[in-house]
Amino acid sequence: MRRARITGVGHYAPPRVVTNFDLEKMMDTSDEWIRERTGIVERRWVDEDTATSDLAAEASKKALQMAELKPEEIDFIIFATLSPDYYFPGSGCLLQHKLGINHIGALDVRNQCCGFIYGLSIADQYIRTGTYNKILLVGAEVQSKGLNLSTEGRDVAVLFGDGAGAVVIEPTDEDRGILSTHLHADGRFATELCVEYPGSAAPQGATHQMLNEERFFPKMNGREVFKHAAIRFPQVIQEALEANGFCTQDIGLIIPHQANLRISEAMRTRLGLPPEKVYNNIQRYGNTTAASIPIALSEALSEGRIQDNDMVILAAFGSGFTWASAAIRW
Ligand code: UT7
Repeated sequence: MRRARITGVGHYAPPRVVTNFDLEKMMDTSDEWIRERTGIVERRWVDEDTATSDLAAEASKKALQMAELKPEEIDFIIFATLSPDYYFPGSGCLLQHKLGINHIGALDVRNQCCGFIYGLSIADQYIRTGTYNKILLVGAEVQSKGLNLSTEGRDVAVLFGDGAGAVVIEPTDEDRGILSTHLHADGRFATELCVEYPGSAAPQGATHQMLNEERFFPKMNGREVFKHAAIRFPQVIQEALEANGFCTQDIGLIIPHQANLRISEAMRTRLGLPPEKVYNNIQRYGNTTAASIPIALSEALSEGRIQDNDMVILAAFGSGFTWASAAIRW
């Protein structure tokens, strides 16, 4: 049976470290509040000249190196982001150009915190059907340029960070690789976490009035998001286990989307797992949305937290609302 397998993983975060103490100088917040409510200690921010596809290109080069492939050997690109370089065209096209490739397809995926798993499910289908053989899947974000860094925006601004993670996916005939993916969405909650402008739902033209309304910044009903996330994470992980006839004891490592350390801990407790079974690095990166799972996967691998044949579960929840999981035999 032809399955899809991750053969290369890499990540890149911009060098500028922004601590909670740095944020204290920009808005009315505190290191204590941020640590207690989210677990975040610091995050990375890009400089003025860096865009999302630049971070993606760096992460991609590392993933390609691990897979021992040259960029021109890739036959399809999937790019997950909520912070594309441009409103259009998609960042996949820009990444393709930065890697020095042309002509191959480049698909942008817009599923926010679940973007990487949605992208993984697409890659999985293409590989299983034999459509493509070497897919580059990237999750990358530049959040820092789109945040409201005044006190009005503090509930969102302290959470998010910049970064990128990439994987190369290839076919295998072995009984390993991506076993299943599980995707969900509930659009009734779309405005609980969103950026309204620019968008076709807005009145014609981006007027100064709209800019003054600050509707270009992300807004979030944090408590509502938290409440749903705490339920959906364990639920979608159970779904992945049951689909493959596994139980929680079979889990080698869960790599959750890094939204909030408290959400991750609530999920771990609900599933009855010891701390070493759940990977967390939100402390150092904040929430990097579509990039958070591939960055965490890359770090977990380099720290030796994943061994051959381990059962790895990816899980995410975020804007949409969307939630998703993937079961992978490494
Ligand atoms: O990737 C998925 C996307 N997002 C998430 O998963 C986020 C889910 N939600 C959360 O993580 C939490 O709801 C937050 C961390 C965003 C907020 O934590 P909370 O415990 O739900 O706090 P809250 O929103 O209920 O706010 C408590 C207080 C409020 O003050 P009052 O009304 O009690 O006086 C806020 O104004 O904390 C205040 N506050 C802050 N204080 C200092 C809100 N943000 C900040 C801040 N610094 N950055």
